[in-house]
Amino acid sequence: MDYKIRTKISRILNDDAVAADTAITVLGWVRTVRVSKAVAFVEINDGSCMANLQAVVAQPEKLLVLEKLLTGASVRIKGKLVASQGQGQKYELAVDSLDLIGEADPSYPLQKKRHTFEFLREIAHLRPRTNTFGAVGRIKSKLAYAIHKYYQERGFYYVHTPLITGSDAEGAGDLFRVTTLDLNNLPRKEGKINWDADFFGSETFLAVSGQLEGELMATALGDIYTFGPTFRAENSNTSRHASEFWMIEPEMAWAELNDNMDLAEDFLKYLFRYALEECADDMAFFNQWVDKDVIRTLESVVNSQFERITYTEAIDLLKKSGEKFEYPTDWGSDLQSEHERYLTEKKVGRPVIVSDYPEQIKSFYMRVNDDGKTVAAMDVLVPKVGEIIGGSQREERYDVLMDRIKKKGMTGMENYYWYTDIRRWGTVPHAGFGLGFERSVMYITGIANIRDILTFPRVPRWAKF
Ligand code: 4AD
Ligand code: MG
Repeated sequence: MDYKIRTKISRILNDDAVAADTAITVLGWVRTVRVSKAVAFVEINDGSCMANLQAVVAQPEKLLVLEKLLTGASVRIKGKLVASQGQGQKYELAVDSLDLIGEADPSYPLQKKRHTFEFLREIAHLRPRTNTFGAVGRIKSKLAYAIHKYYQERGFYYVHTPLITGSDAEGAGDLFRVTTLDLNNLPRKEGKINWDADFFGSETFLAVSGQLEGELMATALGDIYTFGPTFRAENSNTSRHASEFWMIEPEMAWAELNDNMDLAEDFLKYLFRYALEECADDMAFFNQWVDKDVIRTLESVVNSQFERITYTEAIDLLKKSGEKFEYPTDWGSDLQSEHERYLTEKKVGRPVIVSDYPEQIKSFYMRVNDDGKTVAAMDVLVPKVGEIIGGSQREERYDVLMDRIKKKGMTGMENYYWYTDIRRWGTVPHAGFGLGFERSVMYITGIANIRDILTFPRVPRWAKF
């Protein structure tokens, strides 16, 4: 059977690339069927776009498969594209022949009614066939393309960093172990597990970030970016944490904190604009069904400047806010999500970049500021989602970096000689950040839970599908 002669519905309804009266073949899944004596209407979706194509069957009594034409079935329809009689869309398909390819009986879980996101998570194998998750799938693909386009057009090289690593880049300790050892019979040496007997001859984990290797590449190629999966074993059951998520990490040689903030702001606005312009149908859907403000919000953000404040200013604002926070707002304590949300949602009402955090709450690799108390860190916070970007200028001074490592009491740092070595020979100021891909899609679509952005989410106690 020649399936390749099919015409995708997006070519008809989005691109307007097929002329009326053309004979076409459409392949897709039945969304709804309405039958009257004289005519049957079959709504087909083929995943290529949000819209369904309406197929019109004259003399339905002659259609032998009519009884089996139920929601969820897959069909092949041949017919002629004609100007639509009804309202709503430009074309419909006047059916010549309709073949049932795969039946769906009434137990198909996605019957025509609204389902809760919670229910759909339980059937993640089928939810891509719903309007919402079809739209999420399409917009993620477009945004992934936009991310590559953005960096490639600006001379950044795409690099791959290892997913199996011996290092805990963020120092947060939330690592998944990678091992081939028999857990029921662990090799031991002097009472401890003998990692020398493991596959790599040392302890290994799934990477929480590609940054450290990204820095090695940036200090050779100039500007680089990574775009890949990262893994964190944080046991936080929130709507914005996943155990497996994708991160985009640009790293620029010859750059300072301000350059980093400029890149972050420009990059995010580019993505928002791209979604508005290139994913208009799917965005219109999110705006109608998920968050009635999402388009207006993105449009206004694209045309405004992100607020930039220091951590010290942020603490001042929090103290003066008159709000009752659960966590302390003393200088030196980390900003909690309630603080971040106050700043970006209530105080500023748009994205905020907070910079120059206290040295003791931030990672060892961040550049120490002249005051000796703060580091050149930056987080981008957005309403509803909170932190979507974390980054910094890196400590490029060998001695200062080694001092900081010592001061933080970090052990095993001799294993990081490769990271510190680039500061020994030809060191350069450099900076970069990480954007959480799913969190940015949450912001763009208005979808409130990361479990509904990741097609097959991995979160504590859930790795199904
Ligand atoms: O702030 P993070 O931990 O920064 C880094 O990993 C740096 N190495 C990045 C760099 O400078 N190259 O993480 C970066 C972003 C966060 O702002 C957030 O958007 C996302 O990654 N993120 C998560 N997204 C989903 N689930 C989680 N558990 C996440 N943890 C971080
Ligand atoms: Mg962070």
